[in-house]
Amino acid sequence: MKRVLLSALFRQPAAFAGRRVTVAGWVHSLRRSKAVAFAVLRDGSSLTPLQVVLSPALENYDAVASLGVGSAVVVTGEIVLTPDAPQPLECRAETVEIEGAAPPDYPLQKKRHTLEYLRTLPHLRPRANTYQAAFRLRSAAALAIHRFFAERGFCYIHTPILTASDAEGAGAMFRVTTLDPADLPRDAAGNVDYRADFFGKRASLTVSGQLEGECMALALGNVYTFGPTFRAERSNTPRHAAEFWMIEPEIAFADLEDDMELAEEMLRDVLRRLLDECADELAFFETHFSPGLCDRLRAAADTPFARVTYTEAVRLLEDSGKDFVYPVFWGCDLQTEHERYLTEEVFKKPVFVTDYPREIKAFYMRQNDDGRTVAAMDLLAPGIGEIIGGSQREERLDLLEARMRELGMRVEDYRWYLDLRRYGGVRHAGFGLGFERLLLYVTGLPNIRDVLPFPRTPGSIS
Ligand code: 4AD
Ligand code: MG
Repeated sequence: MKRVLLSALFRQPAAFAGRRVTVAGWVHSLRRSKAVAFAVLRDGSSLTPLQVVLSPALENYDAVASLGVGSAVVVTGEIVLTPDAPQPLECRAETVEIEGAAPPDYPLQKKRHTLEYLRTLPHLRPRANTYQAAFRLRSAAALAIHRFFAERGFCYIHTPILTASDAEGAGAMFRVTTLDPADLPRDAAGNVDYRADFFGKRASLTVSGQLEGECMALALGNVYTFGPTFRAERSNTPRHAAEFWMIEPEIAFADLEDDMELAEEMLRDVLRRLLDECADELAFFETHFSPGLCDRLRAAADTPFARVTYTEAVRLLEDSGKDFVYPVFWGCDLQTEHERYLTEEVFKKPVFVTDYPREIKAFYMRQNDDGRTVAAMDLLAPGIGEIIGGSQREERLDLLEARMRELGMRVEDYRWYLDLRRYGGVRHAGFGLGFERLLLYVTGLPNIRDVLPFPRTPGSIS
């Protein structure tokens, strides 16, 4: 079947005027009067639905005109321009093939459903407008990111999902094993003996492709990964998922300043592309979820981001007169409430916070000369808080090794990582952009569960 997508019809209505086309989709609503019936059809390619005029002359008119919401049909008919109607065109059906009828218990009847209700139907909710828009935007954003890096000569690499190392040293990893939990092999000390496991040692799902990204950057120069990432954090917040996607560039011969420049250029470029290519979807999110969204995104795309050191940020928070739930002091980890105050009330745009205390950051970050901070940066965005975390990496073998020992890490397990410093080591830096955090920022949707097709969060894997 050669079907025309609704997106193509609405992109160039005049090109289809008077032409006979085949379209296929799901009935969004159906209105029947004595002489004629109207079906509103969606096919997932565009926010604008197609009105199909059903005349009693249709061979199966009675069956078609009594179809329920959600039924799947293939329609062949003539496209007629309708300059006086809200939609630019309609289709006068000549044949309607009922591909799959939906009975009246179809859970997504025409009324507006809450996102909470729709989340209970992960298999059907992609048919709701909001999710079609969210998932189309997700696809466009992924492509925009790939184009950004491709145009700058970055090599797109694939880092492993199964790993034996904890890239963040935070221990929030999902264990992967083929051992029988009811019959675990144990060593003399009574600990699980992973030598009998599939890989011969303890394995997990990756929390970040960074360490492997560093290996690749120190060979290929500028690289990025874009892949699934897993964190077994018990954070039940609207911004944390157990499975999310992360974009991680790693650049050689580069410092923190280069890293921030890249992050800002990438984000603003992606925003510009989305404003251009997903204008309908963004207008939809503005109307239904986030007043002023498009202007905010346009301003972010057009204006340089702000910058502040952690030390200054703490001072701003202390002087804010705000009654934060979590106390603010030099050395504290910034909480979402602090991040949002900085980006929404102080700077009113995305802001990089730099040079965090070493104690609250990962082992691989480059130590600053002050002895107490590291060359780290987080990018905070209004409405969300942290969307990017990055740093310059510690390239000095002695300092890195000392820091790992200080943190009680098993240095033997990271020999390969230290080799990168031992053989032709260079200044390098990188960051991780949480893809769903970006999508929350761009759509104004309230919850990470709304931008992931099948969200995995603590206690939930439907
Ligand atoms: O700040 P994070 O932990 O940094 C890293 O993983 C570095 N290794 C990245 C790098 O330098 N290559 O995570 C990076 C970003 C965060 O800023 C956030 O946007 C997102 O990943 N993120 C999550 N997104 C959804 N759910 C979670 N549980 C997330 N944890 C982190
Ligand atoms: Mg972080």
